Amino acid sequence: MDYLIGIDVGTSGTKSVLMDQTGRVVKSCTREYPMSQPYNGWAEQDPEDWWRAAAETLREISEETDNIAGIGLSGQMHGLVMLDETGNVLRPAILWCDQRTVPQCETITRRVGKQQLTAITANPALPGFTASKILWVKEHEPECWRRCRHILLPKDYIRYRLTGLFATDVSDAGGMQLLDIGKRQWSQEILSALDISPHLLGQVYESPEITGFVTREAGKATGLTPGIPVAAGAGDNASSAVGLGVVRTGQAFTTIGTSGVVYAHTDQMEIDPQGRLHTFCCAVPGKWHVMGVTQAAGLSLQWFRNQFCQKETELAKEQGIDPYVLMDREAEQSPPGSNGLYYLPYLMGERTPHLDSNARGVFFGLSAMHTKKDLIRSVLEGVAFSLRDCLELLQGLEIRPAQMLVCGGGAVSPLWRSILADIFALPLTAASPQQGAALGAAILAGVGANIYPSVEQACHQLLQPGTVTDCQHPEQYQSRYQMYQALYPALKSTFLLAAQLLQ
Ligand code: XUL
Repeated sequence: MDYLIGIDVGTSGTKSVLMDQTGRVVKSCTREYPMSQPYNGWAEQDPEDWWRAAAETLREISEETDNIAGIGLSGQMHGLVMLDETGNVLRPAILWCDQRTVPQCETITRRVGKQQLTAITANPALPGFTASKILWVKEHEPECWRRCRHILLPKDYIRYRLTGLFATDVSDAGGMQLLDIGKRQWSQEILSALDISPHLLGQVYESPEITGFVTREAGKATGLTPGIPVAAGAGDNASSAVGLGVVRTGQAFTTIGTSGVVYAHTDQMEIDPQGRLHTFCCAVPGKWHVMGVTQAAGLSLQWFRNQFCQKETELAKEQGIDPYVLMDREAEQSPPGSNGLYYLPYLMGERTPHLDSNARGVFFGLSAMHTKKDLIRSVLEGVAFSLRDCLELLQGLEIRPAQMLVCGGGAVSPLWRSILADIFALPLTAASPQQGAALGAAILAGVGANIYPSVEQACHQLLQPGTVTDCQHPEQYQSRYQMYQALYPALKSTFLLAAQLLQ
């Protein structure tokens, strides 16, 4: 029996999964790490934390077998990792949710031209994407830029530590805004306009392709046998799509991880002319996807837990359960609509649909009658409303998925899933097994190692539909969603004033 490993370098932690070739998950292991926010709107992580977490989790899962036929990589998208000529990390990675690069986005749009930028990269310049982060370092840290010899994405840094090679895959490379999304290769035109040497970037592969092999040194750090092939893998959203079997037109999923996403597979390249949805290559060779992104989905609840739920956290520890289970029990005692309280999840600015780095989180409608129960429920509802904004935009592009799958840490909560199903007015189906992006990466490695003939075939063979969450009372959220939608336009100019006061 052959085994495959998938590694997902997430924002809250790294997860490694060991799967046998029949799709049975044998073992999975996660290590968490912090995100640092030195200023309002900034977000950084130490790539060494990712490697430590990957090495520890790999050591644990590789104890189960020596028969590993391939490893696949998945990870948080867009993060900027810079290495010097000896492969040392030059500065903390600037993450996908960092908002500091609005001026650099204006520079990109000016230099390339708005229409040309969309024609090549399929997206407008956004602070989330890597290109503007590179320009920020050039401008603000010239010494670091002078020493930079390699630019990598988070999962590709782990690839470098495993194989010694600099490479990436089309789905993640698209999120750098340096790729020609239609041609699936680096864009000379964009690179010259931004004065970025192509030598800084790794070779681009389709997601199932093998990019290199585990080195002896990596073997010592991880317990893996040297020589195991490492597939290109995919950005976490494209990889989750594979882990859920969303690999054909008409299929879609939503995820509540640190970010929240509504994602649809497309056989043809579809572009939102207003750039509120992202278009990238997907992990199925030659195909694409469209997605809307809520910046702080699980992050909103995690923030609330860390700031206001010490009691729940201690109690959960005593009972050996997750604090979120206790928070859910509290939220269940608040009625739909949270007694008139609304939450806007814009802790890290917002992408879909507002494209506004200045937006910030809001509790609206607070009254002296509200308790913590209402606040927790309003966070769950606010994130779900924001994901509905993403769904509405997809539907506006005439993408009307027949089935909506669901995954991510937040979607483990039956309450959050049922709120989401009601707010989407759609049933939500989990996949079995439920390992999301890491499982998708393992499947991609299996295709690369010729265990499965194609990504689509592998998904068909290995995945079954899991639990369905029915949509039960969509009517109770209809007018509340309209109220939620009215809040951002009312606050837009105030968000800008507040951001100016911070400078
Ligand atoms: C997608 C995005 C996030 C990260 C989080 O554009 O920025 O979903 O990939 O992991």
